[in-house]
Amino acid sequence: MLVEKNVALQPYNSFHIVARAQALVRVTDEADVRSVLADPLWGRQPKFVLGGGSNIVLTGDVEPLVLKMEIDGMRVVGEDARYIRVEAGAGVPWHDFVCWTLAQGLPGLENMALIPGTVGAAPVQNIGAYGVELQDRFWELDAIDLQSGEVFTLNAAQCAFGYRDSVFKHAGGPGRMGLKDRAAILRVRFALPKDWKPVLGYADLERKMAEHGCTAPTAQQLFDWVCAVRRAKLPDPAVIGNAGSFFKNPTVSPEQCADIIAREPKLVHYKLDNGQFKLAAGWLIDACGWKGKSMGQAGVYEKQALVLVNRGPGVNGEGATGGEVMTLAKAIQTSVYERFGILLEPEPVVV
Ligand code: EPU
Repeated sequence: MLVEKNVALQPYNSFHIVARAQALVRVTDEADVRSVLADPLWGRQPKFVLGGGSNIVLTGDVEPLVLKMEIDGMRVVGEDARYIRVEAGAGVPWHDFVCWTLAQGLPGLENMALIPGTVGAAPVQNIGAYGVELQDRFWELDAIDLQSGEVFTLNAAQCAFGYRDSVFKHAGGPGRMGLKDRAAILRVRFALPKDWKPVLGYADLERKMAEHGCTAPTAQQLFDWVCAVRRAKLPDPAVIGNAGSFFKNPTVSPEQCADIIAREPKLVHYKLDNGQFKLAAGWLIDACGWKGKSMGQAGVYEKQALVLVNRGPGVNGEGATGGEVMTLAKAIQTSVYERFGILLEPEPVVV
């Protein structure tokens, strides 16, 4: 087991925030985790599980031992009458996995093309885009208990998926199971439907269909369109540091929605199956005039107000700090709250 000391984390977080890990272990299989747990010094230390670093804001150096998940491998593991089942290691980049499934002739993940991060991080926040969420294609996952070293399997219900949420985002407490910092995801298995049908209905995709005069796109076409739409309005984290959408889209009651529309007729809102309304956080932030604004080296992306970006490297060559990103996030929360009475909830994990 190699414990690397004082490791720069800037290459390992998509915001490109400068921070260091006091100690870091690269995990390429579960034996690596067991070696850490058996170690007299590191075994009992707090641990921090790092995937692709695409949904975190580092506000300082990371003191817990960082377990950087680098478990590889993609394979078909079985099938039944309705599904082909595939598995990927936690360290596989999510987009590579989507590409691999399509290359195998297995559609189902195309709407989630180009989402940054790793396969192992995908269930943590139940990633989703263009009408498909991870939980719609999820079968089960293997995780390792960071105290006992025991490997266990969780199905979708046990993962307690919600909108950008799962059991892995919460610490346990009375009446609530939580696995935050208590388990690391090793492998994830998906059930891809044999009777695949395109998931359409999003305005951006409907526009692409009209442009191409196409009514029944293939999975490859959908994949290409999703990639084109994302590239047009979301910053590529390889070029501009960011963590995707910074806030969740809030849900409000029909009364609250009607009340806001009475004051703000242009409010972008969608009715949910349960009768509640989802509001576009990007629109709320945009309406408060934040698009393109900056505080220090942290900024609001010009083409999508829901995305906060690192405007660095600045004079010190280091770009935004996690503190600057959080100061900007708090200022945005305050102005959206003052105008609309809605408290936006950040999506990334603040470390
Ligand atoms: N809008 C504005 N101004 C803005 C941004 C958005 O007016 O600056 C309006 C748009 O005109 C549109 C609406 O807000 O009417 C919704 O915008 P968009 O379609 O871009 O989607 P979103 O709600 O902002 C969500 C996800 C994205 C996902 C897209 C597509 C969340 C928090 N975000 O964004 O996910 O790619 O839908 O499905 O749910 C992520 O989670 O990191 C992420 C990028």
